[in-house]
Amino acid sequence: MKRLFSIISLIVVFCLPYSCKNEKAVTPDSKMGAFIDDLLNKMTLEEKIGQLSLFTSDWSSTGPSMRNDYTDLIRQGKAGAVFNAYTVDFVRELQRIAVEETRLHIPLIFGYDVIHGHRTIFPIPLGQSATWDTAMIEKSERIAAIEATAEGLNWVFAPMVDISRDPRWGRVMEGGGEDTFLGSLISAARVKGFQGNSLSDNNSVIACVKHFAAYGAPQAGRDYHTVDMSDRSLFEWYLPVYKAAIDAGVGSVMTSFNEIAGIPSTSNKWLLTDLLRDDWKFDGFIVTDYGSINELIPHGVASDQAQAAELSLKAGVDMDMQGSAFLDHLAELVKSKKVSEESINSAVRRILVAKYRLGLFEDPYKYCNKKREAEEIMTPEFRSFAREFAAKSCVLLKNENRTLPIPDNVKTIALIGPLADSKEDMLGFWSGAGQADKCVTLLEGLQNKVKGTVNIITVKGCGINNEGPEEISRAVSAAQKADFVILALGESRMMSGEAASRTDISLPGVQMKLAEFVIKTGKPAAVVLFNGRPLTITGLDKIAPAILETWFGGTEAGNGITDVLFGDINPAGKLTMTFPLNVGQIPVFYNSKNTGRPINPENPYEKYKSNYLDSPNYPLYPFGYGLSYTTFSYSEIKLNRDSISRDEKLVASVDISNTGDMDGDEIVQLYVRDLVGEVTRPVKELKAFKKVHLKKGETVTVAFTILPDELSYYHQDMSFSADPGDFELFIGTNSEKTKKISFKIQ
Ligand code: NOJ
Repeated sequence: MKRLFSIISLIVVFCLPYSCKNEKAVTPDSKMGAFIDDLLNKMTLEEKIGQLSLFTSDWSSTGPSMRNDYTDLIRQGKAGAVFNAYTVDFVRELQRIAVEETRLHIPLIFGYDVIHGHRTIFPIPLGQSATWDTAMIEKSERIAAIEATAEGLNWVFAPMVDISRDPRWGRVMEGGGEDTFLGSLISAARVKGFQGNSLSDNNSVIACVKHFAAYGAPQAGRDYHTVDMSDRSLFEWYLPVYKAAIDAGVGSVMTSFNEIAGIPSTSNKWLLTDLLRDDWKFDGFIVTDYGSINELIPHGVASDQAQAAELSLKAGVDMDMQGSAFLDHLAELVKSKKVSEESINSAVRRILVAKYRLGLFEDPYKYCNKKREAEEIMTPEFRSFAREFAAKSCVLLKNENRTLPIPDNVKTIALIGPLADSKEDMLGFWSGAGQADKCVTLLEGLQNKVKGTVNIITVKGCGINNEGPEEISRAVSAAQKADFVILALGESRMMSGEAASRTDISLPGVQMKLAEFVIKTGKPAAVVLFNGRPLTITGLDKIAPAILETWFGGTEAGNGITDVLFGDINPAGKLTMTFPLNVGQIPVFYNSKNTGRPINPENPYEKYKSNYLDSPNYPLYPFGYGLSYTTFSYSEIKLNRDSISRDEKLVASVDISNTGDMDGDEIVQLYVRDLVGEVTRPVKELKAFKKVHLKKGETVTVAFTILPDELSYYHQDMSFSADPGDFELFIGTNSEKTKKISFKIQ
């Protein structure tokens, strides 16, 4: 690809003098530059500041309400973009005000939180990541972009890529889990899906990677809280996911609410300018999170809004989300020479470039097409993809005595639990313009599947969180009448997401009691879990014959889950976030350090080792874990050689056999450990994976190529390179159950 590019560049270079003779080349970029210069020259300072201001419509609120005069602001040229406004008629009207009633007719950008689908809702992102299928994830964002643009939108506040190791933090549902390698691949896939082939296409949106940076590492899992970490951790674990989005061409970046080492992201010049713009060469625009300029005051780095506006503009922010701090203070800051008009021009230019790239100056109503709105939303094709995605996100956590799939001879199913028939909850948090009435619940999915051939008795049993009556004895008698029991348990959709941190992440309310009584009947029983984060379900794991993690599966949740329960789809999802044994272990994650006093695996309670008195260190389910209805066996690992030089490749392979009696997919994972480094290295790091399909009885060889550079890390002086030395390489079905081999880099 690189070669092809240089050949093309050569041709271009050689042809230019002939084709252009004495004229200056008019490239699309120079045409755009001239257009924007011309426009900027015509703008007053007030009009420029207007372009740097983003306001929410009154349709929905995704933060504390601050002002609701957005239509007046648009009319006065005081808004460059609007969010939470969609559907063609509504967007057309707001756009009309901008282009017909303002002096310079500059169109608006329309943004929205399209986090896991726009109208067709897909599983929550944490669930999606459990597929480890970046092609599927990219396709879901393509669909989301098609639907969003069909309703007038052209900017999405996604992907949210924050790495997190703390399931108490409610926003883990929005991310791709705890691992940086997998998270970076997902981040790039989402950007490509949203932005498509070209931003000028009428079904592409500008993506916005967020929340820059390290928002997923707040103290004690409390949303919006302090982040304080070493530069090495920041660069190694937290930053690469955003960098992956930048390298994939993301058009915008959102700052995070948190501080890092004493500096809030929104006023952090090193983060926004030195790193993002200068080192990473990001050329899109930077928007704040909701009112986060104003939050510099309670953070304690600005005494008033004017100072907050000054700090954030100087740090590199281009657009103020909802806070009015730019609108209310930038003009006076220019007049008092605290802020230069040139810095405002640079920010305005970036917003105008985004509008130009979207093609809004050519046609401001480009995304206002009633025909597309009628035809390109929730199509049967999108729904069927959503169903497959819901099924493929499921992770089989336990399946004793092959309880699942539900046997063919089952005549009566008791469906018990507060999540059995809850349309709203299927959406999960951040469900965009998703509609609960369009969601398929588990009960409906089962009914669709069995079409009256199986009797389904439904009992709610209890509310999700102690609300509603307890009907445990009714549930028990339903179970007694059935020959198979499904328990639909978990969290409500509002228990995860923004501002939804929890200290107790076990099953809420009396659901565990309900499960105990029902399972005690001895009927074959499968728990179907709905939740937005890893839960502490150690007790449930002890008693439940089968547990299927389904997250919040979106519009087609019920159908997708039922496909798995009946074995039409063999589950293959693998956890991207560790499930702790108990909250006290948090943070517990797979790529931890060994320490000077590593735990003794033979005696997890040995004194003077790095462990607890009252709990082992190992989690309930490790990163990468997930079962299948079939079984896979792994051969020992083979290497092309056991010692390579810095410019050689290591090829590691294993034979994997499907030893069960069903076809199935397996996500084969490769981890590496650098045994001796200049700084300490994790006990395992994911470096590669492959999803393979194996027919029953089939054996395939899976080979991975690793280059020494892929084993680079940040040294004491923060240089990034790989060292010669001894390594261990692991291949397996999850981060704990692996085969191991050693190799050397000379
Ligand atoms: C606050 C959230 O942190 C952010 O993710 C979201 O995009 C904005 N609100 C806008 O809704």
